[in-house]
Formats: sequence, C-alpha cells, structure tokens
Amino acid sequence: MIPVCDLQRQYASLKTEIDAAMQATAAEAKFILGPNVKALEKEIADYCDCKFAAGVGNGTDALHLALRALRIGPGDEVITTPFTFVATTEAIGMVGATPVFVDIDEQTFNMDVTQIESVITPRTKCILPVHLYGQPCDMGPIMEIARGRGLHVVEDCAQAIGATYRGKKVGSFGDAGCLSFFPSKNLGCFGDGGMVVSNNQEVFERVEMLRRHGGKVKYHHCELGLNSRLDELQAAILRVKLKQLESWNEARRTNAYRYNSLLRGVAGTTTPGEASHLADALRCVYHQYTIRVPNREGVSQKLNAAGIGNMVYYPVPLHLQEVHAELGYKLGSFPVSERAAAEVLSLPMFPELTESEQQQVAAAVAAATAGAQPLSAAA
Ligand SMILES: Cc1ncc(COP(=O)(O)O)c(C=O)c1O
Repeated sequence: MIPVCDLQRQYASLKTEIDAAMQATAAEAKFILGPNVKALEKEIADYCDCKFAAGVGNGTDALHLALRALRIGPGDEVITTPFTFVATTEAIGMVGATPVFVDIDEQTFNMDVTQIESVITPRTKCILPVHLYGQPCDMGPIMEIARGRGLHVVEDCAQAIGATYRGKKVGSFGDAGCLSFFPSKNLGCFGDGGMVVSNNQEVFERVEMLRRHGGKVKYHHCELGLNSRLDELQAAILRVKLKQLESWNEARRTNAYRYNSLLRGVAGTTTPGEASHLADALRCVYHQYTIRVPNREGVSQKLNAAGIGNMVYYPVPLHLQEVHAELGYKLGSFPVSERAAAEVLSLPMFPELTESEQQQVAAAVAAATAGAQPLSAAA
C-alpha cells in the first residue's frame, strides 16, 4: 500500500530528536504557554516573514480568533471560496458573520480574483483567501482590492506554510495569516495545533488576549474569549520539525514535478498547473498533489484495488453543503467549483515518497484511466 501521507516515516527520521524534546518538556513541566510556545512563535513569525505570531489550539480557532481580533461579527460579510475545507466558513459563522462566495480559478483551484469586486456590498468587511493544496492565491489583486475598498484580509494558510507569492511568504500579506499544525499538514504536530501570524501588533495582541479567556492580566477579563492555546508539548515537537520544513517543502515540489512528467500524456488526466499567468509568481508547497480525472469514483476504486492511496478534497463545495443551505446558493451557482469537486483526486504526496513509488502510482493512474476521454472543460 502506498498511503496518501506517511507520518510514520517522518517520525522515524526524527525519532531521537523528537523523543528528547518530549522528555525535556515533561521534565520542565511548564505545560501552558511555556518556553517552547514562546520560542516557536518567534521562529514561525520569522519563517513567515511576519513580526508576530500567537500559538492557538488549532487552525479553525486561528481563523476564528483572527476574525474576532479584527472585530468582524454579526451583520458583516466575508468573501471567500466555496472550494475549501468547512473550517474556513465555520470560523466565519462562529463570529456571526456571513460567508459570501466567489467561484474559483480553473487552473489554481483558488478564488477567482476577477469576481471579488462584483460581490462587495456595504456589509463586506473582509476577504478570506484560502491557499488550497499549498498553492498561493493571486495576492496582488486581492490586496489591491482590499486596500482600495478598506477591507481586511485574513489568509487561510492551513495547507500552505512556506508557500510564496512574488517571493513573500503566504500569511504575510493580509492582516493575519492562519496556520494549522494538524498532523498531516506540511508542518504537523502530534495532535491539534495552530497559529496566527501577523504584521499588525494590535491584531496579534488581541489574538493573544482572546486565546486565553479574553484577558491580558490573569483573572481580569475584558471580552469573552476562548481557551485556545497551543500545547507546550506540541510546540516542542514542532520546533524539531520546523528545521526540516524547507527541505520537506522542496522534496514535495520535486515529487510534484516528477509526477507531472510521469503523468504527461496519460489520457484523460489533468495535472495541477501553477497557473500559466502566475507561473513565475508562485512557489506552491504541494500539501496535496491533485489531478483531475473523468469518472473519478471509478478511478479511485481502481487505485484502491491497486493499493494506491487517494483522497477527494473536497467532494461537495461549501455552497451546496446542508450547513450553508440558508445562504440560498444552488447547483450551478459556482460551476468551476462544482466541476472541480466532481473531478479532483489527490495522489500520495509526502516528502519521503520515493521515485519508484511514484512510478507505481503513475502506472496505476494510467491503467485506471485507460481509454478515458480528456476533460474538455479543464484543459
Ligand atoms: C483549508 C483549511 N482551513 C482550515 C483548516 C482547519 O485546521 P484545523 O484542522 O487545525 O482546525 C484546515 C484543516 O484541515 C484546512 O485544510
């Protein structure tokens, strides 16, 4: 079996260092907002080209707290993509605001920036781009629109730590960048974890305050907050792993380019493009390597039978999810997202994936798609 993601291989490669870090944390016994959280916040802020970082309980809370820090709430609208994990809109809903969707770009799977202006209303307070699969959004136009219209920008970087747009790390463009350290992420811990990065001191200070029950001074509370702190033990593990992140991201990129050439000419399969008009601007960190195929369910079953892990991220776009029925969107509202949801298939992608495993994956994809017609709309 070749899994989609193999965390055991990663642990094996760092076992001595990680075990030592966990033992040292246990011995030091400063479990809540201890020295490793503090040090990691500084290291991640530096890594993300940001001045500040605040560790929180998970990526969903990072989004929630960033929106709270910007005082986005009931009656406000937040423009985002329907082709993402539900956490993005969950966070918008948790602050009482309303998600407003624009469709995605066919090539990048990220929000189509040409549609943003058309959905801005007097209630719009924020744009929330999601750097899906590790691919940066087109941040130039997004920031231009936001500045021109006085809107906030919160970047969902859960899948994209280390990705760059015009040489600058994602998360450093908007008012806040939100990271997830869910185990399978490019930088993952041994449970849940997240972080908000920012160049805005006020946003950072508000996240710090809101993550610990809405107080700056112990037992003095100025706002209703959350209990959402990054664990010290997770921070100790993440500090060991962070040192490898650049080389892991490079390995993912190498693997992606190898897949591109192995899958070139495989009938019916569309490989992920760093969109042609953005090709020079983006450094994708391939959290996922996602192809499009016709008859996706059939291809997925054949890959499973051949022992090739594969996943669908995500089969139902958010505008068609029951949880968002009250928003009033319907089938056909966002055709590019709907087509993507029907065609995408993510293949095994992790830094330790070997060339011979990739050859097996590509051969299995070729066999599973044999005789298929090319996908016309995605060409
Ligand atoms: C795009 C996106 N946003 C937000 C999140 C939420 O992160 P977490 O699982 O750490 O809460 C995820 C995690 O899967 C994600 O993929």
